Order: sequence, then structure tokens, then C-alpha cells
Amino acid sequence: MCGIVGVVGSRNATDILIQGLQKLEYRGYDSSGIFVTDEEHNEHLIKAVGRISELQRKIGIDVNGTTGIGHTRWATHGKPTENNAHPHVSESGRFVLVHNGVIENFLEIKNEYLEGHHFLGQTDTEVAVHLIGKFVEEDGMTTKEAFCKALDIIVGSFAFVMIDKEEPDTLYVGKNKSPLLVALGNGYNMVCSDAMAMIRETHDFLEIHDGERVIVKADSVEILNEAGELVSREPFVAELDLSDIGKGTYPYYMMKEIDEQPAVMRRISSKYTDENGNVVVDSEIVQAVNDSDRVYIVACGTSYHAGWASKMFFEKMTEIPVEVHLASEFGYNIPLLSKKPLFIFLSQSGETADSRQVLVKVSKLGHKVLTITNVAGSTLSREADYTMLLHAGPEIAVASTKAYTAQIATMAVLAKTVGVFRKNTIAEEFDLTKELGLVANAMSAVVAEKEVIEAITAENLLTTRNAFYIGRGNDYYVSMEAALKMKEISYIQCEGFAAGELKHGTIALIEDGTPVLAMISQKEVAAHTRGNVMEVLSRGANTIVISSEECAEVGDDFVINTVHPFLTTLAMVVPAQLIAYYATLQRGLDVDKPRNLAKSVTVE
Ligand code: G6P
Repeated sequence: MCGIVGVVGSRNATDILIQGLQKLEYRGYDSSGIFVTDEEHNEHLIKAVGRISELQRKIGIDVNGTTGIGHTRWATHGKPTENNAHPHVSESGRFVLVHNGVIENFLEIKNEYLEGHHFLGQTDTEVAVHLIGKFVEEDGMTTKEAFCKALDIIVGSFAFVMIDKEEPDTLYVGKNKSPLLVALGNGYNMVCSDAMAMIRETHDFLEIHDGERVIVKADSVEILNEAGELVSREPFVAELDLSDIGKGTYPYYMMKEIDEQPAVMRRISSKYTDENGNVVVDSEIVQAVNDSDRVYIVACGTSYHAGWASKMFFEKMTEIPVEVHLASEFGYNIPLLSKKPLFIFLSQSGETADSRQVLVKVSKLGHKVLTITNVAGSTLSREADYTMLLHAGPEIAVASTKAYTAQIATMAVLAKTVGVFRKNTIAEEFDLTKELGLVANAMSAVVAEKEVIEAITAENLLTTRNAFYIGRGNDYYVSMEAALKMKEISYIQCEGFAAGELKHGTIALIEDGTPVLAMISQKEVAAHTRGNVMEVLSRGANTIVISSEECAEVGDDFVINTVHPFLTTLAMVVPAQLIAYYATLQRGLDVDKPRNLAKSVTVE
């Protein structure tokens, strides 16, 4: 979703902004823009629709300065046009602003304060910068007063960085709900919505809290709270490695991240193992789960599917019932809760607005919250009572792969430790370290046979408009994720179905040649799913069977090594990730940057 960068005090502001925006490309966007200026007021505002490369094409060598702001926009209010792209300017053009988030009361502000103002586009952001301009130019406030007053009036989520052209040595910064950090350089300072954007420049960052207003200059950072009092805060060191966020020799991040999964499984195992070889989790977290009478997993997209993939083993090992909910539904229709609920938020980014609104609500109700995320210090992590990290390394491709498997593995770590604490025999007998090792081997065996999967994909999915994944139990849960992968990058309309449910309606969609991919890794239900395969086959479907060794039959298209029944999703998902990858490549599409999607969805 939208990305923000800003810099003050550097002789090469344009370079820093462009490189920062490139690092944020992975989050998804449809237009971009920069504004740069310097002490001599050489001002340049450049915007472009499409990729950052389009913006770069428009930037001449004269476009440079000491101060600047930049933005990648993922359209919400108004189409992705140049007029709607950020930075936006005030009525007179004096104030220039970039914004992430959604201003809920922008129409009210427009009607109440901005009569007679002319707007170039349809965005809520333009209203914010006009409001600040009005306070200064019509009402005689100082820029700082106007900025703070506007922040008091604006309702919604925002991260703002603003330049007053008359003060080209200052960035005005503020946030509510949307992520924003100050990055500390030597003789210059920066602002960014994600540490990744500025990690090339520095590892030292300052958090900004909701409601704070920050004045950033080349050699100073002044943080004020809502009451206008100075706040002092120590910087933190972002533990991000530049090589972690590179593609290496891979053509696409998604393939790199699929390949990394065996290593991630082993890393999770070692991060949560003590020197005696015991699987361990912070005792407060174990206690909190143990004390609960029901676990509510709340998440979105792939993380939601990881929740489903974790439910069965979590219940078996802890004997605590688990419910899995979509965040966007849960928050506004909170079901009847148990007496002592514990909430687990699964979120790769730790920034998803849908999940955050639920977290805020259930925390207010006094319930304990655990966030399981890949990003230390993310909003969902900061606002939860407890955090467990995925240790998957940055995930850049929009289609989530290693974060999904890392979430399931981390949930298994938690289930195992809570189960052992409760003296549950199933948990005691489940050798997680060994089982994750077997999963890693099974994953490696799949990625070693990429070419086979590439061929299966070319043979069966090259021209189709739709497809189905079917399975039962864990294979159903992994089918949902497999179908999402396929949809989001290849644009093949694909649904994941409980195999037994197909005949209750959806089988009507099966035509000659419709691809149906069956996942079969659970012995008890294998025969039933095979029956469902026959049903669609006799109606003309083109069936592809992916099975585990113990369920395999002659003629199956791809067989994975057997892993523990709790963890089959971890291995079964890998061929599906590769099928989605190759289906996308074979259609000539960009695997890492699918249309309309964002990696980190910071609006509801
Ligand atoms: C976006 C991404 C998905 C992701 C979902 C939840 O829609 O495109 O890949 O699964 O958000 O994100 P989270 O960061 O909370 O796991």
C-alpha cells in the first residue's frame, strides 16, 4: 500500500527519495511522485502514473535539492491519475504534502473550511493540505500551529510529511494509526513509512507514536505530544540486512522466498529451542494461553488461511478450542465471546488495518492479545500484550509464501509448549524439532522438482480462465491458500473447496477441461477425496492430483514426502505456490507485482 519517504539536509535528495521509493515498490502502488527543493528555492514537483521507472524517466539531471518528499500511491479516493498522485499542494502552492491512510471527515472539512478552494483531483489528501494552507494564509497561523490544528481536526488514519516552501530546511511530520518512522542520518535526517526504505542510509530509527507531531531538520528532531509538550525518545537499531531485501540471482522475489522455506523452518525450530533442546516460548505467553478457555485467531488473507491450518493441531495439543475469524468481519460483528478468551493476531506485516481495528477493540474490552508477526516493532506487535516473531526474514513478493508456512510453524511451537505445560500426551509425544526438520526436507524435495511442476502447470493451466483446488481437513485449508495464490498473481479465477462440498452446488461449474487440483495427504479421507475426483472427471474436468507418499496412487501427478499429519499443510502448499508462480510466468505477467494488490494493507 502507499509508501512515504522524506529527507532533509542531503545534497542528493532525489537519489535518496527514489531509492527509498524503489524499496517500497513491493508494497503495491499505482502512481508515484516526488517534490524536492533547496535553500535557493529550486523547486520541482514530478508525478507519474505506473511504475517508479515512469517517474524516473521524467526526472531530469537538474532535479535535485537538499529537502524532499516522495510517495507511492495505492488508489483509494480517486483513480490512479497524475492529479491524484502525491505530493499534493495547497491552494497557493506553498505547502506540499504526502499522506498515507484515509481521512474519514474530508468531505466535512471541505464543506466547513474550504469554500471557494480549487481541487485538482479527488483525494482526501488534497483537502488536508488545503486546510493547512488556509490556516496559514487566511487565518494568520504559523505553519507549526496550522499543521497541529489540522491534525486535531482530521479524523481517520494518517501519516503526513509536509514541506512549507518558505522553510526548505524543515519537514513537518505527524501520524495516527498509519506507520511512520524518522531515520537518523549523519548531517541529514529522513522519514519513511517502512524502515526498509532507508536501510541503505542508516540503521538508526526513531519511533513516532500516534498523535505526535514531529519537526525534522538536518540536525535535529523535535517530537511533540498532542498537548504540545516535548517528548524525548531513544532511537532503536533496525535489524535489517540489505542482502535480505535483495533478489540475489533470482528473477523474482517470490521464487527466492519459496526456496527459503526449508531454511525458515529450521530457523524457527532453532530460535524457539533452548540450550537443552527443549522447545520454549516466553513463559508469560504460555501462561496466558493456558489461562484462556478459548483461542480466537483473527487475521486476513494468507494469514487467515494459516490460522485454519493451525486450528486442528492447536486443539489436539492444548485441548483449548480455537476459532478462526476474518478481521474485517469480526470487528464489526463481534460474536458471543467465551469467559476467558485469548486473541491471536496472525499478520506477516503487523500493519494490517483490518486486524488492528479488532486488536484495539478487544484490548479495550480487557482481553489478552498475542501478535504473531514477521516484523518486530510493527503496530500490531507494539499494541499487543505479547509478540512472537516468525523469523522468516523480509517477505517482499506480494504473494505471501514463507510467511504462511512460518506462521503455521510458529503456531505449532506455541501449541507444543502450551500442550507440554498442560501435560497433554499428544503434545509431549510430538517431537517438533524432528517434525519441522522432516517438513524442511519435504519442502526441499518439492523445490528440487520445480521443472516437473512447471511442466504440469504448462500442460494444465496455460489457457484456462478458472480452476478449483479440492481437499478435506488440512488439505481443504491448504486448498484455500492454494487458490488465493493462484488468483492473486495469475488472475485465474480459482476457488479452494472442501472436496465433499463440491457436489452440493459448485460441481455445476465443471465443464470439459476445467482444471481441478486435488490435494490428498490424509489417509482417513483419501478414498473420499478420490471419489470426488472421479465425480468431476466424469463430468469432463481435467484433474491434477497432488498427494503425500502414504496416500499416493499410480498416476498421481505430484507426490510429496510424508510429514507429520499436524503439519501436512506446510509441505502440500509448496507445489501449489510453484503452480501459481509458473501459471503467472507462463502468462507473461509480473509475479512480484500483481495488479490492484498491496503487500501491507493499511486501510480498512
Ligand atoms: C494483503 C496481502 C496478503 C496478506 C494480507 C494480510 O492483502 O496482499 O498477502 O495475506 O494482506 O496481511 P498480513 O500482513 O496481516 O499478514
